[in-house]
Amino acid sequence: MKILIVGHGARESAIAMKLKSDHRITKMYFAKGNATTEMLGQNVYEDSIEGLRDFALKERIDLTIVGPEAPLVAGIVDEFKEHGLKIFGPRQRTAELEGSKAFSKKFMQTHGIKTAKARVFDAYQEAIDYVRTQEFPLVIKASGLAGGKGVVIADDLEEAESTIHSFMIQRVFGDAGIQLVIEEYLRGFETSIIAFSNGKTLFPCVPVKDYKKAGSGDTGPNTGGMGSVAPSPEFTEAHQHDFEQNILQPTLEGLQSYNIHFKGFIFFGLMVTENGTYLLEYNMRLGDPETQVIMALLENNLFDVIMDCLDGNDINLKFRDEKAVCLVMCSGGYPRQIETGFEIRNSEKVTNSQVLFAGATAKGNRILTTGGRVLSLVATGATFEEARAKVYDDARTIHYDYEYYREDIGMF
Ligand code: AMP
Ligand code: GLY
Repeated sequence: MKILIVGHGARESAIAMKLKSDHRITKMYFAKGNATTEMLGQNVYEDSIEGLRDFALKERIDLTIVGPEAPLVAGIVDEFKEHGLKIFGPRQRTAELEGSKAFSKKFMQTHGIKTAKARVFDAYQEAIDYVRTQEFPLVIKASGLAGGKGVVIADDLEEAESTIHSFMIQRVFGDAGIQLVIEEYLRGFETSIIAFSNGKTLFPCVPVKDYKKAGSGDTGPNTGGMGSVAPSPEFTEAHQHDFEQNILQPTLEGLQSYNIHFKGFIFFGLMVTENGTYLLEYNMRLGDPETQVIMALLENNLFDVIMDCLDGNDINLKFRDEKAVCLVMCSGGYPRQIETGFEIRNSEKVTNSQVLFAGATAKGNRILTTGGRVLSLVATGATFEEARAKVYDDARTIHYDYEYYREDIGMF
């Protein structure tokens, strides 16, 4: 079996590490990969959908797994399927549940899924008139993909008006901001739940806590994720029950009523409040850094569960009864201005954790930083303290210029 994994973050490194010991897999390719994936297979520098399709046809790829949202929203699954290529992920139309917040909000409202009250706007003046009647804080979202930057929590009318102006008139996110979702602010804690879909049923993984803010103590700007832990220590069985009844089940019914039978991942971004668990968003893929801790705890053979889902078979997910911690090491300044190109030293001396490179590339026998999120360190233990001690011990072993990481991942 030959596998192609699309993406180049630590998420894709975690998938590759999970698959690497499977003897049925003869070769893994990565588009475009990173320093970890280069050790496990071959990196391919092709990023157009047509280019990837031609590559998969030429190399007779048996299975393609897609990490990031952009190729899904651009229709990679449709293109691969049309050419008889096996691929795990939603078609373009289904990926709109992530690609269009207006569409996903309407989907949630239509199917009685517990979510923040919201309205969709296509016209600038209507959005402005609306926020003038509202209380603050208020959440303003660009409907389209904006690289995780399209959500603003406006604390007052002035900020709301200037956000609407920058999204709809200045078009800071291009077409992504011509339609807005404006919704009530929910106070609580966030949890991520990712489920496998076999086209008929959704099979949720352990709940994950993702640390989104750049600074320790949840300070500073939002990022792609600075660390994660699983199972989420705050998310109780009562929350799980609330999620299954008011979000998971109606989502499944909604998908079925739209005749959507996709095989891939669906990610529920949840906000747990005093009044219960609400759905903030869907992502139609695995999360990063959620995947790193999920893969660390997943007992099943990943290749088997994906193939079973593709065949429409039910799966029985099993997770180790342990705690997992993922610490993301970044380039200082992330998510804003960063400098890269620095050598990463001592990663081979790490003994307690798994090192999963992201924004890092091999050059000769050196590994250099290339991005904001440089690598993830992942460890498990009987307690969070034990897992946490391992990743922090290893973080102190690794060195590169401008290294930065949060000090409080796994502390609650
Ligand atoms: P989204 O892409 O819709 O998940 O939004 C990104 C982030 O914005 C979320 O992870 C939350 O931290 C925050 N957020 C989104 N919607 C709300 C809301 N209704 N209330 C409070 N925070 C929100
Ligand atoms: N960690 C959230 C995401 O992958 O979008």
